[in-house]
Amino acid sequence: MSGLTGKTALVTGASRGIGRSIAERLAAEGALVAVHYGSNEGAAKDVVNAIHTAGGRAFPVRAELGVDGDVDTLFTGLEEGLAGRPLDILVNNAGFIDYDATVDSVTHQQFERLFAVNVRAPLFITQRALTLMPDGGRIINISSGVTWFAIPEIVYAMTKGAINVFSRSLAHTQGVRGITVNTVSPGVTETDMNGWLSDRDAAKAIGDLTALGRPAKPADIGDAVAFFASEDARWISGQTLEVNGGLFLGPRVQR
Ligand SMILES: NC(=O)c1ccc[n+]([C@@H]2O[C@H](COP(=O)([O-])OP(=O)(O)OC[C@H]3O[C@@H](n4cnc5c(N)ncnc54)[C@H](OP(=O)(O)O)[C@@H]3O)[C@@H](O)[C@H]2O)c1
Repeated sequence: MSGLTGKTALVTGASRGIGRSIAERLAAEGALVAVHYGSNEGAAKDVVNAIHTAGGRAFPVRAELGVDGDVDTLFTGLEEGLAGRPLDILVNNAGFIDYDATVDSVTHQQFERLFAVNVRAPLFITQRALTLMPDGGRIINISSGVTWFAIPEIVYAMTKGAINVFSRSLAHTQGVRGITVNTVSPGVTETDMNGWLSDRDAAKAIGDLTALGRPAKPADIGDAVAFFASEDARWISGQTLEVNGGLFLGPRVQR
């Protein structure tokens, strides 16, 4: 894989989980990374400090997404940290699941919030990022395997379906500028979003459904994202990569 020395990156939702792993990996490749977070300033500072300790470069950017003015707030902090540099890499990672947003009980408010954070924010962040991005830039959107396997949290799954469509259409329009757009679709990953995985039986159940026998670690996802950000991925665009250790490939016992 080629290095990212001299490049800049914005990773949304980089204070924890998958986003943290992406930020750390991009920084390890040499990129200056904007570590975006919503409210957990301590966690974001930890990420920036860890990157600095490892010899990389990063700065934190706070912006609650899904509220009025979110993109303005984000880009005020981002542009201050970039200090006139372009934005080479955008990773739309921030998102959340609402376990109550099932078809039986979802409210309009829950629906609006999920779509505001998981869909509207990535769209308008991208719109703004494209003005800072040179030709040949990289956009990676984080979707989910729930676009092809069913879960009760139907609205969350719908938001990720929208991200898949967004990515593909965006890749089509931005190709003229040499900007690639790809989607990384994690399976079940050990993050705060999946607190239920701390239950050993639950983790084993996921392992039993996975060819490689365990839930993902955040770094399993971050490394795949770093590939799409690299020069090695220059001829890949409009694609969705399922990064899930071989989830739901078929029954274990076949006779
Ligand atoms: N974990 C999985 O199994 C899994 C599977 C498939 C896809 N994904 C997707 O991967 C992405 C990352 O998930 P994760 O599991 O790493 O989540 P996580 O550990 O819960 O971390 C979420 C990150 O997003 C930020 N964030 C969430 N809502 C925000 C908002 N309204 N405004 C600003 N920032 C916000 C958080 O910031 P704060 O720290 O400030 O709260 C945090 O940095 C999400 O898009 C998720 O849908 C996850």
